[in-house]
Amino acid sequence: MRISIIGSGNVATHLAAAFANAGHNIVQIWSRDFHHASLLAYHTRSEAVERIELIDKNIDLAIIAVKDDAIANIASQLNLGNTLLVHTSGSTSIDILKGSSAKIGVLYPLQTLSKDKEVDFSHVPLLIESNSEEVVQILKDLASSASSQVLEVNSEKRLSLHVAAVFASNFVNSLYSAAKEVLDTQGLDFQLLRPLIAETARKAQHSNPKEVQTGPAIRNDQATIHKHLEFLSSATPQLQALYETLSQHIINFYHKP
Ligand SMILES: NC(=O)c1ccc[n+]([C@@H]2O[C@H](COP(=O)([O-])OP(=O)(O)OC[C@H]3O[C@@H](n4cnc5c(N)ncnc54)[C@H](OP(=O)(O)O)[C@@H]3O)[C@@H](O)[C@H]2O)c1
Repeated sequence: MRISIIGSGNVATHLAAAFANAGHNIVQIWSRDFHHASLLAYHTRSEAVERIELIDKNIDLAIIAVKDDAIANIASQLNLGNTLLVHTSGSTSIDILKGSSAKIGVLYPLQTLSKDKEVDFSHVPLLIESNSEEVVQILKDLASSASSQVLEVNSEKRLSLHVAAVFASNFVNSLYSAAKEVLDTQGLDFQLLRPLIAETARKAQHSNPKEVQTGPAIRNDQATIHKHLEFLSSATPQLQALYETLSQHIINFYHKP
């Protein structure tokens, strides 16, 4: 397929590389910052364009991969006739593209993507949506060329997957940062926690997370919880409320009918 990409961030970079590797032709890149577009264009042997109106109509697909709150404005500036147009957002309805093309869809990668971190794209779930069967088939074929995990989901289900992904990835990573903050107060190396992090993730891969919970809160061990809260109050008081909320959540989950 001949594909142009609007945006040059994490998702634009990974999708451009994955589709180029799968044999598709990345034609043009536009980004708000021309320097960013030029860098991605260089790596995908495509053309960076300075103005969004310069995106050529003569393509099979345009992918909008910009911040959620910029999608509507970007879509309204495109002048691509009825070229297939998709966005990559988890929490944005397909309807946001209505009026920008007769052929619209969504291509949402359910993975945490950072542009300077490699990922095995063949295992990234690609969730697609369209209101046309013809477009669903086109997106299925495209997505399957880059990933072995392709699934059709509507906007509501995609929203729920994004919410779940925030819990499973974004919040968990933020909790790693909290753990590092705690260790930093004692000059301890975060490296010490890596086997624990790996084992926790490994268990979640093979078990129902509900069945492998450990720690003071599932034991409803109030004395230890109290000790931890006291430690936090002097070491990292900004983490005290978070510790308390999560502990209470676990206690409610396991100990309240
Ligand atoms: N990263 C992930 O893990 C992930 C996974 C799945 C889906 N998504 C979705 O993919 C989309 C892109 O996310 P991302 O992580 O790639 O974001 P990102 O790395 O922060 O990149 C944001 C892109 O949006 C552009 N942008 C920001 N504000 C803009 C504005 N007001 N007008 C025009 N362009 C603007 C930036 O352009 P310049 O750099 O040129 O300024 C940049 O190309 C979002 O809808 C996000 O929800 C992200």
